[in-house]
Amino acid sequence: MSCSNGDKILRPEPFRIKVVERVSLLPFEERKRVIKKAGFNPFLIPSRDVFIDLLSDSGTCALSNEQLSILMLGDESFSSQRGYFYLIEKVKEITGFDYVIPCHQGRGAENILMDMLVKKEGLVVSNGLFETTRAHIEMRGAEGIDLPTPRIKEEDYLFKGDISLRKLRNILKSAPKKVNFILITLTNNSQGGRPVSLHNLRKVREIADEFRKPVVLDASRFAENAYFIYKHELPGKSIRAIVREMFSLSDIFYLSAKKNGLSHSGAIIGVKSRRLYENLSSLTLFFEGFPSHGGLPDRDLLLIAKGLEEIIDEEYLAFRIEQVKFLGEKLREAGIPVLYPFGGHAVYIDAEKLLSHFKNGFPGYAFASEVYVEGGVRVGVFGGKLSGGGTPEYVRLAIPHRVYTNSHLLWVVDAVKRVVERKKEIRELALSYSPPRLRTFLARFRQV
Ligand code: F0G
Repeated sequence: MSCSNGDKILRPEPFRIKVVERVSLLPFEERKRVIKKAGFNPFLIPSRDVFIDLLSDSGTCALSNEQLSILMLGDESFSSQRGYFYLIEKVKEITGFDYVIPCHQGRGAENILMDMLVKKEGLVVSNGLFETTRAHIEMRGAEGIDLPTPRIKEEDYLFKGDISLRKLRNILKSAPKKVNFILITLTNNSQGGRPVSLHNLRKVREIADEFRKPVVLDASRFAENAYFIYKHELPGKSIRAIVREMFSLSDIFYLSAKKNGLSHSGAIIGVKSRRLYENLSSLTLFFEGFPSHGGLPDRDLLLIAKGLEEIIDEEYLAFRIEQVKFLGEKLREAGIPVLYPFGGHAVYIDAEKLLSHFKNGFPGYAFASEVYVEGGVRVGVFGGKLSGGGTPEYVRLAIPHRVYTNSHLLWVVDAVKRVVERKKEIRELALSYSPPRLRTFLARFRQV
């Protein structure tokens, strides 16, 4: 920020608030009843009973005045509507991709893409698959393998979302026919939302070319990723140019517009070949809707186009990344085991480390439940036994875009700290219901 004491001041929100939504805190005893009724799974807490909601940064953003005003220009025709042409121009400008298909949300895009790209008994190698991505791969009888960078243990290495290039090459050498494609998630949600370096992406491209494998980007948080590169790897290059290069290193991308598209729904698939586009279009027609909207109203396509433009604003991204860091530093200063350096959308607490006295009992869910009871704060739980990704059980404090101020976050910090102070009293949980897949979201527990 340009002022006399430079970076030392807390960066304020680069927006002002025009519309507000009332939230209130239920009494303590009621919060205890609510969490029990929700089976100690924060995903199942009715949002009306939540005071501050850090469950997800997905589909939870506040809209801008420009997004709200463009909604009225939606052309709600059955197909080939005006908003589609506006969206593809915008996506082309930002990503360089010619062929674009909207879908209803990220997993809709995953369904269609995996149908086309995943082969039975095949392998998909990745820096980190999100849970829905992994489920779509496994559903088709294939396996998803995460290859986190060996530098993940280096205290100060920032790009902990990288893929291990050595392991990638080894797998491709030993089983070249089995690997269907390489999937790189930007930022890497299952590794703390940490970014992937441009260096790593360029090397992935080289290896993929050597073994003739396609590179697919899950670019759901591409702008946050680009900001880290801009700030720490290639400060001379503009954010737009970095975004362009990131996308240019892939063959196919998809992104959930609910994250860096600053929208409440939607996703986009981008491909470079006309043949692929035609195949995808017929699948879209089958599962999502007409390929010019993928099941979304035209107004949402306009919203996404605007959102994609708004997210690559340097001022906003600087605020965004600093807000995550602000929350993370407060927890770290209190000695809470958080993934460090922080990522772009959330702070992750290692619940297994924090509640190391737990023998078996789902420390992430137990801790998240207590944070709700303590402060009416809803946080997410990812990884651990229920996810199949091989990471510990994390409590994730994801910050919705443009929704909460830093004083909301101070309330969150206090609630978390109070729970940590009484951590020895937290009771372990046992599963009382577990669905066959995507268990993170729907599992229920009882206290033991
Ligand atoms: N890819 C990544 C990296 C994601 O984080 C998500 C969703 C998806 C794909 C699926 O997209 O929700 O639009 O169907 N992540 C949410 C989260 C649920 O809270 O991190 P979707």
